[in-house]
Amino acid sequence: MQENAHVVILLGPPGAGKGTQSVRLSAALGIPAISTGEMLRSESQSGSPLGRSVQSLVANGKLVGDRIMNELVSRRLRQADCARGCILDGYPRTVAQGRFLDALLKNLGAASPHIFDFIVSVQDVVSRLGGRRYCPVCGQTYSNEILTCGRDGSALIQRADDNPSVISERLRVYRRNIGEIVGFYRARNYHPIQAAKEPDVVLRDLLRLLDADVIHRPGGADDRFLSSAFA
Ligand code: AP5
Repeated sequence: MQENAHVVILLGPPGAGKGTQSVRLSAALGIPAISTGEMLRSESQSGSPLGRSVQSLVANGKLVGDRIMNELVSRRLRQADCARGCILDGYPRTVAQGRFLDALLKNLGAASPHIFDFIVSVQDVVSRLGGRRYCPVCGQTYSNEILTCGRDGSALIQRADDNPSVISERLRVYRRNIGEIVGFYRARNYHPIQAAKEPDVVLRDLLRLLDADVIHRPGGADDRFLSSAFA
């Protein structure tokens, strides 16, 4: 990672739109979107020893252990495409992961992260996840009523953890951890985001707050990160 690389953290319940916005932010800012859930699902799909060891935890909505998650993220953030920073979708999820990430970013020379906490109602979560489908080939996510992938024509499928009982377990796990993790970040570049708005509006809010964070940080504006530079 380059000195002062920017790392954006997206917190929020299942179905809040973290994945949707991380892809959009990635396109707007030119840094990679890293989804720890996606990393775990592709390990499971590949049948690797790691994938086999986490498959049942992920399918049942339980958290994978901090040691495994920290190792995965540490390896990923050292890759060349993260030189200018990255967007973290779904990590950290515990204070232990947050502490590990702080030490890692310090070690890599990155700036202090920007944290966005997606706020959305339980009703929205349940209805969004009930309707979510994804392409098993390219990973693109879709909402209700779309049956085939617009990119490659593959038949869309439902995630193994998008069924009502696992959704309620994921929400329970989220509620158990979110207070502590927000407490950990609240005094920093932390911003609650109203995520029940249209996706384009949520993206605009994120970019506006990101601009403000960057302009007000010691050293001032950084043109690489002003969203106007990407308009
Ligand atoms: P992960 O894949 O991270 O799942 P999650 O946090 O439950 O989040 P989702 O991917 O379900 O939702 P999202 O917020 O990304 O919403 P999306 O944009 O898709 O993790 C899965 C599992 O992996 C965990 O349960 C755990 O087991 C394990 N894991 C992962 N990270 C871990 C970690 N750090 N530590 C330990 N374990 C870990 O949107 C949802 C739907 O809504 C879509 O259909 C979308 O099109 C639609 N939508 C999005 N935005 C809007 C909008 N503004 N308006 C209307 N619809 C919208």
